[in-house]
Amino acid sequence: MDKFIINGRKVLKGELKVSGAKNASLALMPASILAAGKSILKNTPELNDVFTMIKLLKHMGAEIEFGDHIISINTGNIIDQTAPYEHVKKMRASVYVLGPLLGRFGKAKVSLPGGCAWGPRPINLHLDALKKMGVEINLVDGYIEANVNKLRGANIYFDISSVGATGNTLMASVLAKGTTIINNAAIEPEIANLAQYLQKMGAKIDGIGTKTLTIEGVDDLHPVEMDTIPDRIEAGTMLIAVALTNGLITLKDISPDLLSAVLVKLEAAGCKIQVTSNQIILDASNLEIIPTNVSTSIFPGFPTDMQAQWTAFMSLANGASYVKDTIYFDRFKHVPELVRLGANITINENVAIIKGSKELYGAKVMSTDLRASASLVLAGLAAKGTTEVLRVYHLDRGYQRIEQKLRLLGADIIREAGQEY
Ligand code: EPU
Repeated sequence: MDKFIINGRKVLKGELKVSGAKNASLALMPASILAAGKSILKNTPELNDVFTMIKLLKHMGAEIEFGDHIISINTGNIIDQTAPYEHVKKMRASVYVLGPLLGRFGKAKVSLPGGCAWGPRPINLHLDALKKMGVEINLVDGYIEANVNKLRGANIYFDISSVGATGNTLMASVLAKGTTIINNAAIEPEIANLAQYLQKMGAKIDGIGTKTLTIEGVDDLHPVEMDTIPDRIEAGTMLIAVALTNGLITLKDISPDLLSAVLVKLEAAGCKIQVTSNQIILDASNLEIIPTNVSTSIFPGFPTDMQAQWTAFMSLANGASYVKDTIYFDRFKHVPELVRLGANITINENVAIIKGSKELYGAKVMSTDLRASASLVLAGLAAKGTTEVLRVYHLDRGYQRIEQKLRLLGADIIREAGQEY
């Protein structure tokens, strides 16, 4: 298990192009099942969750080549419609194969994802929607066994806006007979990216980017090429890294609309921000961090996937603030580790109350999940002395070689490989 060794307080400066969005790729890749033949996905990030999805699709019989951020997925010869436990336990997004397998083959056997590092993450909404579309679902020996003769369109309403349930239902609906309406659909940009991909394949979808998606089922879809949108969470993480070190950065080839809530909050915290249609400049040269509360919500609100990083940021603010997570009530595993670095944070239910410290101090800390690890790296970059972040395999799931990108900006961070901690 690798670790990062960070010597903090180096000012980060420069230009960066963020990678493709993990959570878009994890939907686009399985969507390729729907069109027999060779699909091409560009700007695919090279990170471990993508490699896990590759293994899963290969297990089913897909032929895949991946290089230079372009992935080609030939789903012409899929013979196995199973997502085994060994893949799903590594990555919950494996459940995204359910909708497309049902769409194309009328059957799927997918391991139940189980819990996650920070608490329960049910998939009831995915299953209820599929049942409404005529799918018979049985839970057998830890697996979802799903079968349907022909999916039929249905009027679906989600009580909670869910990225995954919207994605899965959308992928199932494009080859269903008749019309499907998804009410209270997720409007996260990764879902729009998926819907546009399906549309390019020949799907008939109205309302992309809105809370009501209307899908007219078609008989078949054809493989196409598609661009993956940039990763708004990687972008936000990098902006906070720069803000925490009084740096200056230009993020290239990214629409500020992908992360407006984060940009507004960064401005409120005292950062100077300039944007054009495809770049973001953040200047934190003279920043004294102004305490700024955030409450996570669905897009275009402040993303839960930036909550841990914001908590690290506010640990050095000039006063007290709070961070409330309304999406995942228990997503606070980073807090005790940030406290080891000198942060003053208490948790009350789903709210972290942060009293800004004058300084953070290097220490050994442990990654527990992806975004928690990112927050520890950020704190380490700002801390005095040396921080060791252990178990960075969590980070490698969702960031493409983050240490190299940070080094390009001037950070003193190295990876020490292959030891047990
Ligand atoms: N929910 C249910 N039932 C369901 C599905 C969701 O109750 O059947 C609840 C969840 O417990 C949560 C809320 O609905 O409270 C929203 O969850 P959602 O389904 O939107 O999350 P997800 O699809 O499982 C994706 C991202 C997550 C991100 C969330 C929220 C992917 C692969 N994952 O998860 O990303 O936190 O949306 O934006 O797209 C990450 O990248 O670190 C990450 C965890």
